[in-house]
Amino acid sequence: MNYKIALIRGDGIGPEVVGEAVKVMETVGTKFGHSFEFTDVMMGGCAIDAVGKSYPDGTAEKCRACDAVLLGAVGGPKWGHSSDPDQRPETALLSIRKDLGLYANLRPAALRPAMAGACPLKKETAEKGIDLMIVRELTGGVYFGKRERYETADRGIEAADRMAYSEMEIERIGRRAFELARMRSKKVASVDKANVLESSRLWREVMHRLAAEYPDVEYREMFVDNCAMQICKDPAQFDVIVTENMFGDILSDEAAQITGSLGMLASASLDDGVSLFGPSAGSAPDIAGLGVANPLAQILSVAMLLTYALDMGEQAAWIESAVARVLDEGWRTRDIADVNTPADKILGTTTMGDKVVAAL
Ligand code: IPM
Ligand code: MG
Repeated sequence: MNYKIALIRGDGIGPEVVGEAVKVMETVGTKFGHSFEFTDVMMGGCAIDAVGKSYPDGTAEKCRACDAVLLGAVGGPKWGHSSDPDQRPETALLSIRKDLGLYANLRPAALRPAMAGACPLKKETAEKGIDLMIVRELTGGVYFGKRERYETADRGIEAADRMAYSEMEIERIGRRAFELARMRSKKVASVDKANVLESSRLWREVMHRLAAEYPDVEYREMFVDNCAMQICKDPAQFDVIVTENMFGDILSDEAAQITGSLGMLASASLDDGVSLFGPSAGSAPDIAGLGVANPLAQILSVAMLLTYALDMGEQAAWIESAVARVLDEGWRTRDIADVNTPADKILGTTTMGDKVVAAL
């Protein structure tokens, strides 16, 4: 089979780590007799520089013409936070999510045994293991609500961002979470702020209805502040966490950090058509171009792409075990090394990519 993959290399470390992911995909292709045809799609800060806007016309169409999209990273201090949306790299990210209807964002956070030393939690907490999946709603809530700025009579300018959720939006992300839990440890925690927000109260009502449809899945609900605390106190209690867009943004960075490094966290953004895969981390402008970025999140995103977009679970497992093997052998990039890592075990971006290819 020949598969078409859109590559959004993007900014910062994006092009470097995507390059390693491509090497891995080509190795998988050769071994299993598939071919991947890559189409570059420009988006983010690099597009601002090249064509004057972060989300060039036709970006979504180019992606839709492919079987899946692999994204590196977009953004960086060079482009700032202009008041003109076309001049902000993040606009591209939000637009592609909206245009491709990528409402379900899966962010797995697992503590690999080889990485236990990198876990910042207490040893006895880390030893219980971490294997959770954040299911973040990605096309609604405060990220996409009406934004306003207006003059007030006595308090200067006021700014507002609307946070809205419909039953339909809540139900479809909830279903994803329950279905996913059925393939894992059959536990769902729905996270909200129903003690304060009306959108959270509706969220809860819909989740209750769904929970009744999935009696085999253990369901509970939690306020987001408590969840943030529980994730660092006792992460082993969680399997699937389902939550709205902004809570998921925040909790997923926390969950990533307790597994050792943001540089290890892959993600999948799904709808029922073409889906997008890429690290949850950012463009790391401080280390861009130095050849030291960790390509593993990008490589693990390829595994998610194979699983969710191309139904190649076997090939995905093969990549995951290659990564596990490289880590077991003690190889590290700078971000996941610690004081006990010998200097000759610390690899750069391409040498880490090569190690994974060799392990494959
Ligand atoms: C993420 C990022 C984005 C988000 C930013 C870059 C707009 O933090 O994917 O988690 O907030 O969704
Ligand atoms: Mg984020």
